[in-house]
This record gives sequence, C-alpha cells and structure tokens, in this order.
Amino acid sequence: MPAERTLVLLKPDAVARRLCGEILARFERKGLKIAGMKMLQVTPELSKQHYAEHVSKPFYPLLESFITSGPVVALALEGPEAVTVVRGMMGSTNGRQSAPGTIRGDLGLSRQMNLVHGSDSAEAAAKELAIYFGPGELLTYASPLEDLTSAADER
Ligand code: RTP
Ligand code: MG
Repeated sequence: MPAERTLVLLKPDAVARRLCGEILARFERKGLKIAGMKMLQVTPELSKQHYAEHVSKPFYPLLESFITSGPVVALALEGPEAVTVVRGMMGSTNGRQSAPGTIRGDLGLSRQMNLVHGSDSAEAAAKELAIYFGPGELLTYASPLEDLTSAADER
C-alpha cells in the first residue's frame, strides 16, 4: 500500500473564519504528512480549471465567486490511502448533512461554504496537485513518526 498524495484546499471561508489551524491540526493528528503547503488567491481562470466538471452547472457562478472571494491554503497531504482518508474526514458536501466528527459536520452549516476541498480520486489528485504545485514544491522527507503511524506493509 504505497503512500498516496492528495490535494486539499482550505477554502476562503476557512481562512476568513480563522479555522486553518483547526483543520490542519485534524489532518496532522490523523497522521497525514504535509508534502506541500502554500497560500494563494484563486483566479476565475484557476477556478474554471479546478472545477472543470462543474463549469456548466447552474451553481457554478456562485461557486466561482465564493472560491475567488479571498485567499485559500493549498495543501498536499501524504499517507496510505490519503485520498479516501481525507474525503472521509471532510464529510459530505452539505454541512447541514455531514456527520458530526467530520470537518464539515463539526464546523459548518453551508452547502457552498464548506471549508475544505479534497481530491475525489487518485486521478483527480494527480491533476490537481499539478495545478497547484510546481516542480520542486512537493517535498519528500523521512519522518520517524511513520514507524508509529503505520506498519511496514501499509506504506
Ligand atoms: P469539493 O470538490 O470542493 O471537494 O466538494 P465536493 O466534492 O464535496 O462537492 P462537489 O459536488 O464537487 O461540489 C464542489 C463545490 O461546489 C459547491 N457546491 N455548491 N449550490 C450547490 O448546489 C452546490 N453544490 C456544490 C460546494 O462548495 C462544493 O464543495
Ligand atoms: Mg468535488
């Protein structure tokens, strides 16, 4: 089970509500490793690239105005089955329906302003990581904690 990387965005509502630390702490406590991290402003062009699957949907104009409304924090998180683990920790899209214990279920009430994005497949993760991080911006480093957070055959 090789370690996998996934792209997470702390959305403008998370930054504005000062919840970046709270959300990042949850991922760190889970045992995921930070392989990349940067703050940036999403442009309309970047939004259309990132949310290409949603561009023709009725809610897209509102989504674009939200995701471009302020800075986001982009994270590359690494660990065994990181894509699935992160999606589970995020909870379902609508914060009013996401399970308690999840990020969206604990911290939000909105379908749109739902704090966090996570790649929904390994293919999406590869595409999204390449959008947000250039060559050399994703770091590979050893961490002795890995001996405590997963067995050798899980890495
Ligand atoms: P994300 O892509 O941001 O990780 O969220 P997701 O997979 O849970 O949800 P997705 O269906 O991909 O929708 C992308 C983002 O668009 C906003 N949204 N608005 N008004 C609406 O009906 C609606 N539906 C989705 C949310 O911000 C959602 O996270
Ligand atoms: Mg999605």
